Amino acid sequence: MEKARGLPADEVFLDLEDAVAPAAKADARTQVTEALRADWGTKIMAVRVNDTSTAWAYRDVVEIVEQAGDRLDVIVLPKVRGPRDIAWLDLLLGQIELAVGLEPGTIGIEAQIEDAAGLALVDEIAAASARLEALVFGPADFMASLGMRSLTVGAQPAGYAGGDAFHYAHLRILVAARAHGLQAIDGPFAAIEDVAGLQRSAASAAALGYDGKWVIHPGQIDTVNAEFSPSQADYDRAELLLEAYDYYTERGRGAATLDGEMIDEASRKLALTAVARGRAAGLSRTSRFEPPAG
Ligand code: GLV
Ligand code: MG
Repeated sequence: MEKARGLPADEVFLDLEDAVAPAAKADARTQVTEALRADWGTKIMAVRVNDTSTAWAYRDVVEIVEQAGDRLDVIVLPKVRGPRDIAWLDLLLGQIELAVGLEPGTIGIEAQIEDAAGLALVDEIAAASARLEALVFGPADFMASLGMRSLTVGAQPAGYAGGDAFHYAHLRILVAARAHGLQAIDGPFAAIEDVAGLQRSAASAAALGYDGKWVIHPGQIDTVNAEFSPSQADYDRAELLLEAYDYYTERGRGAATLDGEMIDEASRKLALTAVARGRAAGLSRTSRFEPPAG
């Protein structure tokens, strides 16, 4: 926790769930509450509580939010199996916010989708609370839930000949997230030494449209940040496309070509997403649209 404060991650979640041994759960709450009081700069601060089927969940939420709710942005709820898990957390958070004088609705929720039940109900989960900010794919629990034959979290199961074993889950979660205006976040890649494997996994999720990915070791941050940051070339191209599209539509043309590719209203929407990401990453343009001669 001490080290995490100085690392270039956008969000930090302090874990009370699977990284904490059962005998250490109560003590971990105290440590997490104290850690939340430290200076975390502009990082988004999250705590992952235990799931709703455990004896720890309610006390995790009550203790953390009562004692450090003013320092907390979101609760990460693991193993969400249906909308009632979210409804439970939403109601409990509302009660604690009232009790401690926080603005109702201040604390957000990120829902981990990480088993067959959760994936099957992902649309209802995504619609279950206005507090929801993101759906997070949890490959470890998901692989266990499905019976995938692999012990390496986030990596492709050896022997699978169908391409990407996570494609369905990734896309299913992404669709539900986008349908409800939420972010989609990819889960961890456990092989810390396998930088090329992490890079492939991050690049694939980013290409699909995911907004970010968990890291479980400081050594993974740069790789993941690089894969999720828009490239200068992609950003320039998107700005160029918007400019070209404006140029042509002002002249009454709904479709035109830019460097041999058709552009129309749908291309504009694609470009808007890429431009928003580039601007958010602080990029500035290095090229301008040149109207065709004549
Ligand atoms: C994360 O919680 C995972 O199960 O992958
Ligand atoms: Mg998990």
